[in-house]
Amino acid sequence: MSIPRTYSFARYLTAKQSVDDRARNRHVWQSLDAALPHATPERPLQILEVGAGLGTTVERLCASGMLTHATYTAIDLEPTLIAAARRRLPQWAAAQGWQVQQDSPAQLHLQRPGQDIRVATEAIDVFRFIAREQGQRFWDVLMAQAVLDLMDVPTTLPALLSLLRPGGLLYCPITFDGATVFQPEIDAEFDLAIEACYHQTMDRRLVAGKPSGDSRTGRHLFAHLRAAGAEVLAAGSSDWVVFAGANGYPADEAYFLHFIIHTVHSALTGHPEVDPRRLAGWIAQRHAQVEQGTLVYIAHQLDLLGRVPGPLSETRA
Ligand SMILES: C[S@@+](CC[C@H](N)C(=O)[O-])C[C@H]1O[C@@H](n2cnc3c(N)ncnc32)[C@H](O)[C@@H]1O
Repeated sequence: MSIPRTYSFARYLTAKQSVDDRARNRHVWQSLDAALPHATPERPLQILEVGAGLGTTVERLCASGMLTHATYTAIDLEPTLIAAARRRLPQWAAAQGWQVQQDSPAQLHLQRPGQDIRVATEAIDVFRFIAREQGQRFWDVLMAQAVLDLMDVPTTLPALLSLLRPGGLLYCPITFDGATVFQPEIDAEFDLAIEACYHQTMDRRLVAGKPSGDSRTGRHLFAHLRAAGAEVLAAGSSDWVVFAGANGYPADEAYFLHFIIHTVHSALTGHPEVDPRRLAGWIAQRHAQVEQGTLVYIAHQLDLLGRVPGPLSETRA
């Protein structure tokens, strides 16, 4: 592919899927499967996903067969992503052989032998959602994939966990944890400076004047969960590792890489410690490496599975 002139976040999320699928930690995924409470038609599993993007995690869970009877609420701040999720999910499900019923634009009913899943989607800020639902409704499982590192976890986590029923689970895969690696080296010192300044922009990110990010969210989650009264049931790394094989980068991963480089460029533009001309040259070289198939990209991330206190429910395992 040629270097993109414009960038689409939706295409990036789609391209990210194959990278996430390789990265997701199998042990944590199996621990989630084992810890899920037993669901019945009368008592479907209540799942809430925050920052659901295009709904790719719903697809993964449905496809895995892990869910039998479930009501899945997927929310995201971005109306355009929720609109895209509403278009994608029925198409995806029909192509996978599900019987698909669209109860309303926001309500989808998916059925196939042994599985009955209702998916509700909503474009809403998670903080508004929490304020509206707190004390009204409780979920068995809370999902947050590649999201917590965009938030102030010490303040957000207790509010999120308050939506869980006693004994409820939190699954937060692909949580960034402090390493962004581009190979081959261009200039070892400048490469390190770029990484440090890029992470600094995450640590200093403000949304509506409030701190919103931490470049070491993954490792800090252990203490944050403990402080919020939750126990860590399983944890493991889920690093993104992207490289070109004999046939180039898999799927749309060349686009994924261009988008990541563009993100680094946007974050560092105007950074007081980064020389703009050197940055422009470095960014151009990284894009060129994607085109040549020589760029290797690694991001360190963690998957965690936590549980809030409460009686253990009957699990399927
Ligand atoms: C890196 S994307 C991950 C999307 C999806 N979980 C995935 O892995 O493909 C982060 C998502 O969180 C959403 N998000 C960020 N802040 C949010 C907020 N305050 N409330 C709801 N969603 C939010 C963004 O719109 C975006 O879709």
